[in-house]
Amino acid sequence: MPELNDRQFSQWTTLLEERTGMVLPIERRSFLATSLSMRMREIGYQDHESYYQFLHSGSQGTVEWTTLVDRLTVHETRFFRHPESLDYIRDHFLPRRLSNDDKPYSVQIWSLGCATGEESYSLAMVVDEHLRSLGGNYYFGVTGTDISLDSLAIARSGEYNQLRLSNVPDAIKSRYFEPAGEMRYRVVDELKQRACFAKLNVMDIETAPLGAMDIIYCQNVLIYFDRPRRFEILNNAIRCLAPGGLLVLGAGEALGWEPEGLERISHPRILAYRRLAEQQISEDCA
Ligand SMILES: C[S@@+](CC[C@H](N)C(=O)[O-])C[C@H]1O[C@@H](n2cnc3c(N)ncnc32)[C@H](O)[C@@H]1O
Repeated sequence: MPELNDRQFSQWTTLLEERTGMVLPIERRSFLATSLSMRMREIGYQDHESYYQFLHSGSQGTVEWTTLVDRLTVHETRFFRHPESLDYIRDHFLPRRLSNDDKPYSVQIWSLGCATGEESYSLAMVVDEHLRSLGGNYYFGVTGTDISLDSLAIARSGEYNQLRLSNVPDAIKSRYFEPAGEMRYRVVDELKQRACFAKLNVMDIETAPLGAMDIIYCQNVLIYFDRPRRFEILNNAIRCLAPGGLLVLGAGEALGWEPEGLERISHPRILAYRRLAEQQISEDCA
């Protein structure tokens, strides 16, 4: 399979950036070349030019594009990946957010760039544990969004190899998972029903029919975008953050971002912001 010359590298990275916002640096040139070659070999293309043309050819090209994007994006994730952020939600945010007057309690969560669902289910487990401990009726929902259809299919299935559960505390594992064949576990239906997964390109957040969120959780996603795009994505996302709601990011992922109407949470190991209670949210998200 041919290597990528400078012109081709620029052509492919421009296409990727235009359609997904992701910036692929020159250091990832061999990753791009290998991923393209593997996919081209699978579907019988010999040269980059004709494959590039195919991607621009109507509905077949659109379908192929979703497969290629899946190959070019990094889906690394784990359950309870950043425990400090989840602890903050459980120990500080939820107790403050939920007042007796609001019964039955309701919490809406958006896991933005959810990959194969581990992050979304971790959030669901933390919130469910807390709400359960308060007693009474409650409702919560987690919406996981991602650009990768293959990842979303795994998220929807809620089934994982047991090796992927190594970070899950035993008590949580026995409450929220059940065996699903050899070396496999499945999220129990009761929790799975609280989660829904949908394809959403972060470049199109304004068009997403999302309700007002109590928590927006977005970690290890913004790192694939340049700084102006990160800010644009965040500014669009927080239009769906309810007054008093919490935005949780990965450490160092929003350097220089100064959102209006949000206050930074003072905590040494997490990057999070709270929307000031009096701030209005976008009408689209009400
Ligand atoms: C490294 S994973 C992070 C998963 C999870 N948030 C975590 O921290 O474990 C990054 C995810 O971002 C998704 N992603 C990349 N570009 C995207 C885009 N333009 N729109 C939506 N999701 C995107 C990828 O498909 C991938 O699943």
